[in-house]
Amino acid sequence: LGVIITIDGVAASGKSTVASGVARALGVPYVSSGLLYRAVTLCGLEAELPGGDLRVLDCLQAQPPRLQPHAEGNRVQLGERDLTEDLHATRVDEGVSAYAALPQVRAWVDEQLRALPAPFVAEGRDMGTNVFPQAQAKFYLTAHPRVRAERRSAERPEDLDAIEAALVERDTRDAAQSLPAADALVIDTGELTAQEVIDRIVAEVRS
Ligand code: C5P
Repeated sequence: LGVIITIDGVAASGKSTVASGVARALGVPYVSSGLLYRAVTLCGLEAELPGGDLRVLDCLQAQPPRLQPHAEGNRVQLGERDLTEDLHATRVDEGVSAYAALPQVRAWVDEQLRALPAPFVAEGRDMGTNVFPQAQAKFYLTAHPRVRAERRSAERPEDLDAIEAALVERDTRDAAQSLPAADALVIDTGELTAQEVIDRIVAEVRS
C-alpha cells in the first residue's frame, strides 16, 4: 500500500520497457516522468519559443498537459488532444534537456508526479533522488552508449552513429539530474534482455 518503486537511468537504457514490465508484474501503473518533460518541450516548440524559454510556463498554466499512467504505457493529454505519438520526435529529443534544466519546469513536473496516487513504479532520472527519496526500492539502469543506440535505432530514422552521438550529448546535458541515488541498485542492462532486468527487479522487490 502506497508503495513507490523508482527506476532511473540514462537515455535509452531500457527504463520505460522495464518499468512497464515491472509494473505489470506487480499489478500497479508506471509513471514516465520523461514524457512530462517531453510534453513541456512540445508546448515550447509549438509556441515557437526559443529553446529552453521560460515563457513555456505560460503555456503550462493556460493548458497543463496531463499524464495518464497505466501499466501498459503512459499517455499525455492536452485538453482533448492526445500528444503521446508526437513526444518521441527527434526535435523533442533535441530540445528536451534545455527545458529540463529549468528549475521552474522541474518544479512543475515534480508537482504533477507527487500528486499521483501510489502505488506505482516511477521512471526517469531523479525519481529516487529528488522526487521520491522515500521510495521503498530504487534501481538505476545503465548501458554502453553503442548498445543503447542499437536499441534506439529500431525507433528512429537516423543512422547508428548519429543516434549514439545524440544519446551521448543528451547524457552530458542531463548529467546534473541523472546521478544514481546512494541507495539504488545499479544494473548494467548491456548483457541482459529486458525480461531479465524485469525479473531481477521484481525478485529484488519481493525479497
Ligand atoms: O526518459 P526520456 O528519455 O524520455 O526523458 C526525456 C528527457 O527528459 C531527458 O533527456 C531529460 O532531459 C528529461 N528528464 C529529466 N528528469 C527526469 C526524466 C526526464 O530531466 N526525471
